[in-house]
Amino acid sequence: MEKKFDFMQRKDLLVCDAPSSDTRSTSPLSRENRERLKGHHGRVIWFTGLSGAGKSTMANTLESSLHARGFHTYILDGDNMRLGLNRDLGFTPADRAESCRRTAEVARLMMDAGLVVIAALISPFRKEREMARSLIGEDRFFEVYVDTPLAICEQRDTKGLYRKARNREIADMTGIDSPYEPPERPQMRTGPDEPLEDAVVRLMVLLNFS
Ligand SMILES: Nc1ncnc2c1ncn2[C@@H]1O[C@H](COP(=O)(O)OP(=O)(O)OP(=O)(O)O)[C@@H](O)[C@H]1O
Ligand SMILES: [Mg+2]
Repeated sequence: MEKKFDFMQRKDLLVCDAPSSDTRSTSPLSRENRERLKGHHGRVIWFTGLSGAGKSTMANTLESSLHARGFHTYILDGDNMRLGLNRDLGFTPADRAESCRRTAEVARLMMDAGLVVIAALISPFRKEREMARSLIGEDRFFEVYVDTPLAICEQRDTKGLYRKARNREIADMTGIDSPYEPPERPQMRTGPDEPLEDAVVRLMVLLNFS
């Protein structure tokens, strides 16, 4: 017959604190505890810019570079968010604001877990980006403006969306019939005048991730 495991023998596996009486459920661990285990701070790097500007491309290069240097990372890409958590949202201004809010909330949780979070979404409205900044905290939020002019994005048109917008097959396309509000004081601005690799290296230096 199988011998019964005596759980009391392994009480060393548990570290218990007194339960809290707050309404908000609190973990006995702080962000600092988690960050210590990871060996770095949680941060949010937020890429904004027109569709086709190069946000995802830059986010991917940044993540690979950080990963290779031992950072714990995750990308929240607008397109991927729309396949799951944001799949009930469209492209009206209200839905875009909500998409941004949800992404900011998820980014905050992941940052609290000690991750370097890379958000790559058009996020066209200043108000929502500022909301993300205040939710995440000024010292943890790093806004990168991928400032590729509309003419170049439209020429790239990797998803064929600009052609559809010009033909009035789709509505609410940022830069065509939906506004884009550029950041006034982004922590970093890059554009087609700067090679991708240079921009990523500069970003890592600015973030003290080099
Ligand atoms: N620095 C660059 N120089 C030349 N082409 C680039 C550069 N960055 C991105 N591209 C190209 O531009 C196209 C659009 O890039 P990407 O998908 O990263 O844009 P995005 O900002 O993520 O757009 P969306 O908001 O629609 O997801 C891709 O074909 C990509 O290879
Ligand atoms: Mg993208």
